[in-house]
Amino acid sequence: MTPISVLPDGRSTSALGFGCANLFRNDDGAASQTLIDAALDSGIRHFDVAPSYAWGQAEASLGMALSGHNLEVTIATKVGIRRPAPRSKLAQLRSVGAPFKRFAPRLWSKLGHAARRTTQADTCFVADHVRADLHQSLRELGVLKIDIYLLHNVRPADITTDLVNLLLAKKNDGYIGEIGLGSSYVDCELIASQWPELASVLQFPDREADHISSRFCITHGAIQHGLHHIRKWRAENEEAARNLSPKVGIDLFDDDEIASALLGYALSRNEGGIVLFSSTRPSRVKRLAAAASDVGFLSAACQRLRSGMQEIDSQRYR
Ligand SMILES: NC(=O)c1ccc[n+]([C@@H]2O[C@H](COP(=O)([O-])OP(=O)(O)OC[C@H]3O[C@@H](n4cnc5c(N)ncnc54)[C@H](OP(=O)(O)O)[C@@H]3O)[C@@H](O)[C@H]2O)c1
Repeated sequence: MTPISVLPDGRSTSALGFGCANLFRNDDGAASQTLIDAALDSGIRHFDVAPSYAWGQAEASLGMALSGHNLEVTIATKVGIRRPAPRSKLAQLRSVGAPFKRFAPRLWSKLGHAARRTTQADTCFVADHVRADLHQSLRELGVLKIDIYLLHNVRPADITTDLVNLLLAKKNDGYIGEIGLGSSYVDCELIASQWPELASVLQFPDREADHISSRFCITHGAIQHGLHHIRKWRAENEEAARNLSPKVGIDLFDDDEIASALLGYALSRNEGGIVLFSSTRPSRVKRLAAAASDVGFLSAACQRLRSGMQEIDSQRYR
């Protein structure tokens, strides 16, 4: 059973949220539907998306995949990182450039830069842009209200009174449930201290979650970041990793076990909030969501693992 969290406005949702950043690439829609179905079947009721995800297709694909279900879900989407050019235009750009790759590498390289610029973290928080983008997100998702609207990769200097007034007016008109910030923890807190009305939800990387604040927090990247670190560590400490596995109760050569423990630990550190995760494999979505019902056990194992690794490192460098 996936734990439940309560948003500042009193609505309940699942403490485990599904991230849609990498879902819909090279997809005709069927694979996205299968993943969203797997998440819903596993009790996940919160979904995180952004106009910039998956070449700009993620919002529409999520909206479509959810439309066949009659379940109450919460959706967070964002504004700031620009919506990329439509995929067809990018594809056209590449196919026009492809024959030139060998004969005109400079032109090819310029085309590559142009294509990449459309998805890079180029942000805009000008009020007129935000107004138009909010209404486009509502249309793409096929909803009347966005439950959580996050300022994506926002920095303190991006906040203007025009932006604040616009967001509050849109919230008042019922288009937005919660206004929040999706950035580094430091920038979130800096903005929150000056503009608390923009910060009923803070979303930041799990690795910064040592500072969980009293606000409603959503964390992300726990598996990706932790798995990378542990894989690197076990490659450098193979024998120690074999000896440590039975002591901590996690097979350090089984990425599924490690991923479950990392997710459990992230949930225990952000109790009452939401922890996002993502996978492109339905079976993994189900396995991770099932593991999340045993937060206490997984979190304790993950903490034993962290201290075991630290002890081995300290002995090595003593
Ligand atoms: N500024 C922001 O607000 C912000 C920034 C970043 C992310 N986010 C959100 O947070 C969501 C989650 O972030 P994330 O993708 O970094 O999450 P994550 O869940 O930490 O990492 C997902 C990655 O871990 C891999 N993985 C999961 N289980 C695995 C296992 N057992 N073995 C090997 N690999 C495994 C997945 O690969 P497979 O696909 O192969 O399973 C996927 O590549 C994003 O989708 C996005 O919605 C928000």
